[in-house]
Amino acid sequence: MTQLDEPMCSLHKTIADLEQALTQSQIEIQALKQAHKQESIDRERVEAELKASQQLLQLVMDTLPEAIFWKDRNSVYLGCNQNFAEDAGVGSPQNIVGKTDFEMPWKKEETEFYRECDRRVMLSDKAELGIIESQLNSEGKQTWLETNKVPLHNPDGKVIGILGTYQDITQRKQADIALQELNQTLELQTLELKSALDQLQQSQLQLIQREKMSALGNLVAGVAHEINNPVGFLMGNLQPAQEYIRDLFELIDLYQKILPNPGKEIEEIIEAIDLEYLREDLPKLFCSMGEGINRIASISTSLRTFSRADAESRVPFHLHEGLDSTLLILKHRLKVNEHRPGIKITTNYQQIAPVRCFPGQLNQVFMNLLANAIDAIDESNQGKSFSEIQAQPNRINVSINLSTCQQWVVIGIRDNGVGMTEQTKQKMFDNLFTTKGVGKGTGLGLAIVRQIIVDKHCGTIEVNSTLGQGTEFILKIPVEIV
Ligand SMILES: Nc1ncnc2c1ncn2[C@@H]1O[C@H](COP(=O)(O)OP(=O)(O)OP(=O)(O)O)[C@@H](O)[C@H]1O
Ligand SMILES: [Mg+2]
Repeated sequence: MTQLDEPMCSLHKTIADLEQALTQSQIEIQALKQAHKQESIDRERVEAELKASQQLLQLVMDTLPEAIFWKDRNSVYLGCNQNFAEDAGVGSPQNIVGKTDFEMPWKKEETEFYRECDRRVMLSDKAELGIIESQLNSEGKQTWLETNKVPLHNPDGKVIGILGTYQDITQRKQADIALQELNQTLELQTLELKSALDQLQQSQLQLIQREKMSALGNLVAGVAHEINNPVGFLMGNLQPAQEYIRDLFELIDLYQKILPNPGKEIEEIIEAIDLEYLREDLPKLFCSMGEGINRIASISTSLRTFSRADAESRVPFHLHEGLDSTLLILKHRLKVNEHRPGIKITTNYQQIAPVRCFPGQLNQVFMNLLANAIDAIDESNQGKSFSEIQAQPNRINVSINLSTCQQWVVIGIRDNGVGMTEQTKQKMFDNLFTTKGVGKGTGLGLAIVRQIIVDKHCGTIEVNSTLGQGTEFILKIPVEIV
């Protein structure tokens, strides 16, 4: 063995070791390369899968009929589906990212409403479903949406944004609006029909009552007219008749003066007719005849007042004349009869200026109220004897006053008749409500009164009634009816 053999030997060994290490490294590198390659294949596969799944998700979202979007905490868009992208006018979903509602075609107030809603949902961490809102979309179409907004959370449960979906409900909304409009029109038509029906009923009522009143009015007017001629004739003749009588007395005086002794036959007649008394009494007789004629004349005037037909417009009218003439027409019902003494009438009329009104209609009111008062009194007399009634006489009080503010004429008609039950009080003004027997009452009187006082004369009616004690009607008519 030479001296070099040993180092050579060790060198060879080292080389062999190195070669082995190299081979080992190459194997490892190869393995690493292989692993790396496998890794990139895996990554590519995962990426492809991820992309496919994202595409599927997008496809799913794009296929849904709803529009879908999601935003971050600041209401900045992070994504949406195709439907939303089209409404927003951004073409495709990726273009929405980073935008806010201010860059969208919606109206300013819509934008503010959406963002306010976003804020509320994120703050309360509670979903809001079925929000009905409007949207002006990219095509310039005003649509109606039904929107749902739910908060989005990170894995820690913190709210990081919102997810929204909506569907276009414009057609439904339009149908709703059309239906509402239709309903309103129908309601309006129903109201119009109802008021037409009411008016028809009122007119019918009035016609019936007017017919009644006009028949009575015609009769009364006819009687007044017939009385008028003979009264005028009497009035005209009374004065000359008095003068003739005076002349005749003067002639008798002259005869007595010239022939103080006319003879037995004449003296007997003078005594028989009691010439002295006759001379004294005859002028008185004429006076009372004159009074009687005046009374008939005033009755005739009252009758004409009562039966006056109304003009189209209001005319000045002394209300007390209306009340007095109505009382006159009803006199036959107020007088004593076999069942009861006469009904005592008291009138308290404050002196007031004539009121501009429809006199014929007000007379109709007075007639109805006074007739009701007499009916109520007659009803209260049922089962009582003449003397019992006499002890507590039947009374009707009629009054006219000016209210303290001078704006209203206040007419009071009070009776001490039977009074009203609570049920009657509730219903007395209803058409056809009556407590009277068949053929006695039609139940139209007070309905007509209400119509004439409230509707026609812009007045009011107050009724105070106590069962068993009596009833008071207080009518108020404005002095100046506008
Ligand atoms: N002064 C009154 N006292 C008591 N009850 C009254 C009085 N006035 C009216 N009523 C009640 O109100 C009801 C309705 O009165 P209304 O005048 O409308 O009809 P009516 O008198 O019964 O019939 P008509 O159509 O003949 O007048 C009466 O039936 C009566 O019960
Ligand atoms: Mg009546």
